[in-house]
Amino acid sequence: MNAPQKIPEAIPAPVGILAELTHRCPLACPYCSNPVELDTREGELDTETWKRVFSESAAAGVLHAHLSGGEPASRRDLTEIVKHCHAVGLYTNLITSGVGINEARMHELADAGLDHVQLSIQDAEAESADRIGGYKGGFARKMDVAKWVNEVGIPLTVNAVIHRANIARAGRMVEFAYELGARRVEIAHTQYYAWAYLNRQALMPSRAQTEKAVAEVEALRKVYAGKIVIDHVVPDYYAKYPKACMGGWAKRTLNVTPHGKALPCHAAETIPGLEFWNVRDHSISDIWFNAPAFNAFRGEDWMVEPCRSCPRKSQDHGGCRCQAMALTGDARNADPICHLSPFHDKVAAIAATFEEVDANVPVGDYVYRTLKAPAPAA
Ligand code: SF4
Ligand code: FES
Repeated sequence: MNAPQKIPEAIPAPVGILAELTHRCPLACPYCSNPVELDTREGELDTETWKRVFSESAAAGVLHAHLSGGEPASRRDLTEIVKHCHAVGLYTNLITSGVGINEARMHELADAGLDHVQLSIQDAEAESADRIGGYKGGFARKMDVAKWVNEVGIPLTVNAVIHRANIARAGRMVEFAYELGARRVEIAHTQYYAWAYLNRQALMPSRAQTEKAVAEVEALRKVYAGKIVIDHVVPDYYAKYPKACMGGWAKRTLNVTPHGKALPCHAAETIPGLEFWNVRDHSISDIWFNAPAFNAFRGEDWMVEPCRSCPRKSQDHGGCRCQAMALTGDARNADPICHLSPFHDKVAAIAATFEEVDANVPVGDYVYRTLKAPAPAA
């Protein structure tokens, strides 16, 4: 199963694997990109299976292993997994909330060969951050983790998801990430899938708030040039063109869920009719080249108008399949964020309902992320 396989020329080898080691997490962020129906602990892949998955990934050409969750530190075997990834030549990126990592564990991870840490922050102020994450004391724990990451000499990226409750501090979060010793900061406006879709009413900022925050962060590029790299994921709903989601369907990366399902993107299961293969039954190479879900939207033959004859199609690949599914009912349609989409009015109408959101009105209650999926809205 581990032997390198011949890679068909038409399909480039995958560059990265996002391994959702577990969906368990002490935090409960209302914008979590995990599915609303989370994988339970009982069905999680065991250590040996994950090791095989990483060996196969390396053999298939993968360079980067993003160890994610949930909270990957909820797994006792995290250090062993990192060690194995390192041994098979993968660059390891730990995507963590920081909760579950103490100083000794950070040293163990560093000794195991961990290459990079991406630490999430919910806000630049403790009280608000803890409310958003649904975990009291989380903010303080993160401060310690950032310090330990710096002490062991691992490069740190800080990730901040922006929404109505923290958008007033989008610029401050760049500053804050710099103070934490990060070399890179991701200011990512919420993408409305999964839990964020469920909480859209409480999360979506107004256009005025959004424009102000985007301008503020962009202005900081000059101030922080040479000090910290700013990755800025601008908000979808107010855009003219869609983003090239995942860099194109099954073009660069794959996701593996805690229970071993291989997905072309984290929200792919929201598209009905796709057949997903499991790493318990198929090798990574086999999945990458042959799994029906991976081939469903590869290339451009599946496209319908206006994408089919659009000059931008090889640039944005028609946007996001999952968003097209959620908002138009057909994953082949142009992402309706695109102003050329016949469904764009729907996005504009949704955005318009948030046009007048008052920054001073307190954010509504969240449906916090929990293992027990909430009942679908009536
Ligand atoms: Fe992209 Fe399709 Fe819009 Fe063209 S029509 S810009 S390919 S989403
Ligand atoms: Fe699935 Fe964009 S999240 S293609």
